[in-house]
Amino acid sequence: MEVIGNPGVMQQTVKEYLQRGNSIGFVPTMGALHEGHLSLVRRCREENDISVVSIFVNPMQFGPSGDFSRYPRNVEEDMAELSKAGVDILFMPGIEDIYPEGFATYVNVDHLSDKLCGHFRPGHFRGVATVVTKLLNIARPARAYFGRKDFQQFLIIKQLVRDLNLDTETVICPTVREADGLAMSSRNQYLSPEERNAATVIYRTLCEAKKMVISEKITFGEIRSFMERTLAAEPLVDEVQYASAFDPGTLEDISSLNVTIDKYEKEAVLLAIAVRIGSTRLIDNEPVEITGIKGGN
Ligand code: PAJ
Repeated sequence: MEVIGNPGVMQQTVKEYLQRGNSIGFVPTMGALHEGHLSLVRRCREENDISVVSIFVNPMQFGPSGDFSRYPRNVEEDMAELSKAGVDILFMPGIEDIYPEGFATYVNVDHLSDKLCGHFRPGHFRGVATVVTKLLNIARPARAYFGRKDFQQFLIIKQLVRDLNLDTETVICPTVREADGLAMSSRNQYLSPEERNAATVIYRTLCEAKKMVISEKITFGEIRSFMERTLAAEPLVDEVQYASAFDPGTLEDISSLNVTIDKYEKEAVLLAIAVRIGSTRLIDNEPVEITGIKGGN
């Protein structure tokens, strides 16, 4: 595995691969890798000639709370995992490589960035959109791979790729979970054993809500109340930031429509949750495909 830190060197290397007719697949990460990340890497390897992974803890997407300096860093182990997984190039720039002095250009995806997590993390998606645009321009991949766990992030990246005519296909991959259902996340390691146990309420709530939606007899408003109530009943959940049914295209909360699934006209619903347990913010979501449910099929 070749390790490159300098964006210019990376661009030159990529250019040579492209000239030889190789397709490039790309997985951007912030390191502290787990099975979720590695599932993207494996898919990337299967579908491309050359696999590129980046590790860059992007200061622009963190708030002022100190989350950036606290974010887990595990470079030695990450490198061993990526090398074992057969990654060709690890791009690991420094902060000054990505944001040299005088840096002044930002990418902002309107509307989608204000919904869900955007409301609680002002500026976060501007930081994500800016760094991902830069990384895609540096790596010039035919395909880039993202996890469904961060569904809003995926939608925003898909939108910016379309709006800015970037020549990359964005691929969404399933959420990888622990045995008890908790979505894998680099942030899970902040949880105490009690908090880790309490965190299972998130996926449990999503699954129960999904069953209720599918049963058709309950409105999205009732689903939202059920989700909020179930999460709030867990003593270690300190804050429920959102827990509701959303339009998976626009991320509008559809709970106020007060319809049941058989009266809903779109093809899918997104159930999504963000909670704070102690000082750790956790998110998860589950899609519900409506086609095949409606009309008693
Ligand atoms: P990071 O949190 O490291 O995640 C990198 C990629 O791994 C993202 O596409 C994320 O959705 C995916 N991922 C994380 N947990 C997952 C899980 N349990 N199952 C499947 N995929 C999972 O997301 C970022 O980094 C950054 O915002 C980044 C896109 C790199 C920009 O800085």
